[in-house]
Amino acid sequence: MRESRAVSSAALREILKDRFLVGAALNDNQIAGKDTAAVEIVRRHFNTITPENILKWEAVHPKADRFEFCVPDQFVALGAWQGLFVVGHTLVWHNQTPPWVFEGTSGAPLHPELLLWRLREHIHTVVGRYRGRVRAWDVVNEAFEDDGTWRKTPWYTTLGEEFVAKAFEFARDADPDAELYYNDYNLWKPAKRKAVVRLVTSLRKRGIRVDGIGEQGHWLLEDPSLQEIEATIVDLAKTGAKVMITELDIDPLPRPDALVGADVAKHVELTPELDPHAEGVPEDVQRRMAQRYADVFSLFVKHRAVSRVTLWGVTDADSWLNHWPVPGRTNHPLLWDRLGQPKPAFHAVVEALTRAASARA
Ligand code: XIL
Repeated sequence: MRESRAVSSAALREILKDRFLVGAALNDNQIAGKDTAAVEIVRRHFNTITPENILKWEAVHPKADRFEFCVPDQFVALGAWQGLFVVGHTLVWHNQTPPWVFEGTSGAPLHPELLLWRLREHIHTVVGRYRGRVRAWDVVNEAFEDDGTWRKTPWYTTLGEEFVAKAFEFARDADPDAELYYNDYNLWKPAKRKAVVRLVTSLRKRGIRVDGIGEQGHWLLEDPSLQEIEATIVDLAKTGAKVMITELDIDPLPRPDALVGADVAKHVELTPELDPHAEGVPEDVQRRMAQRYADVFSLFVKHRAVSRVTLWGVTDADSWLNHWPVPGRTNHPLLWDRLGQPKPAFHAVVEALTRAASARA
């Protein structure tokens, strides 16, 4: 009895305070303070926040001559008020970036110099505004395909590989004290991981600051294996950069193989077989989720290189996995349920971390 009360009153940030930062991605309602239940969970359990969408290019810089700082300002103020480590997501990505960014002026083809100028202006304006307050940035998101080749985005096809170096340099100039990260999914796939390790190693050798690498951590109940996750942490750490799990969720629903990972451009149509837990999660699935979450957190605390773990959402009701890759599902990938109650997975994480902490003491 006493044990279970201790577990339900435990706060993740307290249990993890000597190990790594722990946080969540916030949506508009949470940033605006309308979702008070979620904000309370954040206040109690987390010491870092990332905005789920509002600092993406299309949101913060929708037109060439227009920046939208109203909601980002609220987000940054919330972080300051609660004393949280605020992470910015994300400066350079191929998704959620408006078409004008990649268009030439008056119908002319896009000139590399113009794109580079836009990149510099964007980064200087956004990073510069929050200098000293947004403490870290996902500078480049998802530059590689799963097979380790460069993703053929307009960034790459227009500027070549150097777009990455340029983005990191612009960000460092705009806020020399912010930590700067490379972020991607499926880094547990060896070819992709190798490409990222090679890139980060070569940038750091050239003196270009890359302070951390984020594996997004959009994982399934069985995949990737714990061995694959551990190998990822170990290999990424060899670059000398910090290692982060930046968008953690565990999807218990069926997923076509081709969609393992997080390619937001891909979708599958809703069918009843793809939405098996619309009425609630069966006990055996709750149990497997609990075990999976306990296992991955046990791995994270084992490795000193891990400096932050951020969940991609607060409760199951907010998760993007209700809409991706199959729009309209009822998903259950996080540690709090739709009503904001801690799930068996939450308690399992607390128990695993408490056990790990007493073994270390
Ligand atoms: C997702 C958001 O959660 C959704 O709300 C949005 O519609 C699409 O993007 N990798 C990333 C995140 O780096 O920015 C994505 O977030 C999920 C995959």
